[in-house]
Amino acid sequence: MGLDHVFTEPPPEAAADWTVPQRWADYSAADHRTWVTLYERQARVLPGRACDAFLRGLEALDLHGGGVPDFERMNEKLFALTGWRVVAVPGLVPDEVFFAMLAKRIFPAGRFIRTPAQLDYLQEPDVFHDVFGHAPMLAHPVFADYMQAYGEGGLRAFSLGSLDHLARLYWYTVEFGLIRAGQGLKLYGAGLVSSFSESIYALDDRQPSRVAFDLKRVMRTRYKIDDFQRRYFIIDSFETLLSTTLETDFAPLYRELETLPDLNPED
Ligand code: PHE
Ligand code: FE
Repeated sequence: MGLDHVFTEPPPEAAADWTVPQRWADYSAADHRTWVTLYERQARVLPGRACDAFLRGLEALDLHGGGVPDFERMNEKLFALTGWRVVAVPGLVPDEVFFAMLAKRIFPAGRFIRTPAQLDYLQEPDVFHDVFGHAPMLAHPVFADYMQAYGEGGLRAFSLGSLDHLARLYWYTVEFGLIRAGQGLKLYGAGLVSSFSESIYALDDRQPSRVAFDLKRVMRTRYKIDDFQRRYFIIDSFETLLSTTLETDFAPLYRELETLPDLNPED
């Protein structure tokens, strides 16, 4: 989605593996205040809306309102829990690089933080979306395995030329997924838990449809990148999400999907 920070080769500051130092000491007081503002808004809306795994991860990684987290300190906790690490990258990295990182339990994150004028919307993921949104779920053992499996599946899809279909799985789970919890629904997608307005809309608004997760249907469904989603997919548990995707051989599925029309989230 990002336009300004999309690279095809590592920019000068980046190492060969695409990482850059976070330079935590360089964040300004205003940067830290932006984090705190965003954090406090989410802390008001997420209890009762975000799934327990997310809320527990937030707690375990100590991503409280102290300002932009220092990746190094956060990684000590995250690595001890699930073997994942968050690294800073200069912007969106090429698909292949992204998948290879996930396959190694490395999550690439933007290090810049949005400006006060962009509190509600920005085009490319910043450190708040990437760290507040994604890192807590990486502290959950089953979701941690799902993310790694997704990276391995991504490398395979890349070689099979089926990235567009697989990208929808990421979108409708990792970014915008809902999970059934008792009678109700809870948020686990990073795009939801990191958004003040969509974290409310996804659960409360009458407009979007909320349907049970179905792998083939997910991979056929287009998505919006510049507006609230029109459809959310609900998983029953992270265990079934992991086992369904692991146990399915996607190669024949990709071939079948080539012959099927895309679905619109509005339909
Ligand atoms: N099982 C998938 C394949 O055959 C890989 C995968 C696992 C993809 C988990 C996404 C999530 O390609
Ligand atoms: Fe994201």
